[in-house]
Amino acid sequence: MANILTNSVEKFQDWFNERAPAFGPFYRKHMTEYYAPKNFNIWYIFGILATVVLVNQILTGIFLTMHYKPSAAEAFASVEYIMRDVDWGWLIRYMHSTGASLFFIVIYLHMFRGLMYGSYQKPREMVWILGMLIYLVLMAEAFMGYVLPWGQMSFWGAKVIISLFGAIPVIGGSLVEWIMGDYLPGDATLNRFFALHVIALPLVLLLLVVLHLGALHEVGSNNPDGVEIKKGPKGNRWSPTAPKDGIPFHPYYTVKDFFYVCFFLLIGAFIIFFSPAFGGWFLEHDNFVEANRLVTPAHIKPVWYYTPFYAMLRVVPDKLGGVIVMFGAIAILFAVPWLDRSKVKSVRYRGWITKVMLAILAIAFVWLGKIGAGPGTDPMETIIGRILTVLYFLFFLTMPIWTKMDQTKPVPERVTMHD
Ligand code: HEM
Repeated sequence: MANILTNSVEKFQDWFNERAPAFGPFYRKHMTEYYAPKNFNIWYIFGILATVVLVNQILTGIFLTMHYKPSAAEAFASVEYIMRDVDWGWLIRYMHSTGASLFFIVIYLHMFRGLMYGSYQKPREMVWILGMLIYLVLMAEAFMGYVLPWGQMSFWGAKVIISLFGAIPVIGGSLVEWIMGDYLPGDATLNRFFALHVIALPLVLLLLVVLHLGALHEVGSNNPDGVEIKKGPKGNRWSPTAPKDGIPFHPYYTVKDFFYVCFFLLIGAFIIFFSPAFGGWFLEHDNFVEANRLVTPAHIKPVWYYTPFYAMLRVVPDKLGGVIVMFGAIAILFAVPWLDRSKVKSVRYRGWITKVMLAILAIAFVWLGKIGAGPGTDPMETIIGRILTVLYFLFFLTMPIWTKMDQTKPVPERVTMHD
């Protein structure tokens, strides 16, 4: 019996390989013969977690689209219908809305890992740039998604954010009208945001993720030691030409990642079942009220993942200045591979300056996020916000200086293990 089964599987494999000869080498290159450094730590799970959330967003998004109505007259009611009448609709919607916030938590940690271990340095500049493009598209994707339920915050958030383009001299006014397709967010805005959110941007995202991973697999992964395993000694028990400190991605890291993915899904399930609005952080209270162009909410604020940048916008007294600072704060991240002048990649072998600077960046970002989520009426908070914005920019603008100045420690020839 077992023999018949083995024979059938082998026959099917032969049949398949004859017709798709490129599949086998592709699978080997990216899975069983992709040699990843053996010293990955927990910071290396966020790429996989981001992939899992991306898949979740696409799958739940497909089911939401089956019942959602992209018109200003029906959108809000159709979301209520999904929540109350569609079988399991509440679960699908909460999986999607919680997924959006988890996506950004995971991405921020993924990016911070890159900064800690110098993963953007040569030869991985392309991986970083593609990652930054993903981040930009993700922000646009989440913004447009938030407009779709057509709640108060959807409407007013869209109005505030689109109106920012009005600060651009000469063309600003017409640009705002062009984006909205109206003088206020309305049916036309909702229709185009729906088209972009459900098809255009997800396609771009998927393409960018494929390129991101393709670029990574060309040069190989960095690791917490920042040691290039490809340059080190060759030969391990899987292949005489593979890097000695590399282990096949499959099955070694697929098994490890599977454990963390299960743990992550458990946290996600806990939020979905017990606190899907997460105290107003994941789904804002104002968004449970239908959009009304005659009633402005007391505090218009974006979802938490934009609030650090929103705080920067608000603490700058001039509108155009604020817009430049806000977009500049994102744009400057693209330049990181060229701002870092250190010969050493990982924070493990850099001096105290790098550690202090990374801590300042993290604190400034989180604190700005808290300020951006508040009403913005406290003058003291505005001053603190300005100081934090300056600190955020100083991290990047002075990076060429402090990365050169910082005392580095000798980097080992081969990766180290901390069991
Ligand atoms: C949808 C979003 C994203 C997905 C699905 C994704 C996926 C991945 C995966 C699977 C890896 C390999 C595993 C790992 O190192 O964690 C990776 C590595 C990497 N990603 Fe992303 N990523 C995303 C966004 C970003 C963003 C926004 C950035 C930064 C701007 C970024 C920068 C990097 C870098 C530098 C590496 C190489 C890390 C190293 O080898 O040390 N990624 N990404």
